[in-house]
Amino acid sequence: MPDAPNIQQLFPDRVFTECCRIEDKHYALHREEATVVKKAVASRRNEFGAGRMCARSALESLGIQECVLARKSDGSTAWPPGIVGAISHTDSWCGAAVARQSDYLGVGFDIETADRVTRSIAKRVLTDSEMDWVGRQAADESRKWFTLIFSAKESIYKCLSPLVGKGARFHDAEIIPHADGFSFKVRLTDKITSRIPSFSSLRGRYLLYEGEVFTGIVLIK
Ligand SMILES: CC(C)(COP(=O)(O)OP(=O)(O)OC[C@H]1O[C@@H](n2cnc3c(N)ncnc32)[C@H](O)[C@@H]1OP(=O)(O)O)[C@@H](O)C(=O)NCCC(=O)NCCS
Repeated sequence: MPDAPNIQQLFPDRVFTECCRIEDKHYALHREEATVVKKAVASRRNEFGAGRMCARSALESLGIQECVLARKSDGSTAWPPGIVGAISHTDSWCGAAVARQSDYLGVGFDIETADRVTRSIAKRVLTDSEMDWVGRQAADESRKWFTLIFSAKESIYKCLSPLVGKGARFHDAEIIPHADGFSFKVRLTDKITSRIPSFSSLRGRYLLYEGEVFTGIVLIK
């Protein structure tokens, strides 16, 4: 078995990715980045550092070397000009996905531990029809589907954040997993669609690996 999931399969061509176990990533931060986690606990410093290294590796595939990835006031990453991207980490894994803005309007990526989302969390995050959909799946898979839908919404939030800011709420997106076992459809409320170009569309995929859910999404022109 490979020692990291192939998150490239979550994305179409011209999106570049890197994923690894946090413990495997030796990191070096630029001064501006190190300031962000100066007072943080070791686990936060490690996830932040590993995430930045994944992002830098992915950016190298676009010909961008050794850039500083500062943090914006809303917590999002300050990508180099003309780049969209996303970073995610759990206790064990981290990864990043990046693309040129000339190819995609947004990129989202998220990792969650697969049993993380309980029914009580799901009731706050999922819409009624998402809860109904999970109710029609095998009972012992409910938490996996709750977590997958939650993760897809985190990916959407990151993907749309440059266009929508903090305006999106969990019930603004409805996720419908496809029977193919790797993709999902997204339905957005009018509040959100009115803030993204009318010709654009979202494409989302997921994969499960060693008890973790990975989701990826792009906003296509
Ligand atoms: C911002 C948020 C998406 C981060 O997700 P998370 O699962 O807590 O953490 P992850 O490890 O997956 O992602 C963390 C990374 O997200 C990015 N991030 C943080 N704030 C962000 C924001 N406002 N916008 C976009 N990206 C953000 C950063 O790159 C961060 O990594 P870093 O702190 O090491 O730089 C989450 O905290 C949040 O606010 N969720 C709300 C989602 C929501 O309302 N969805 C509804 C839309 S459908």
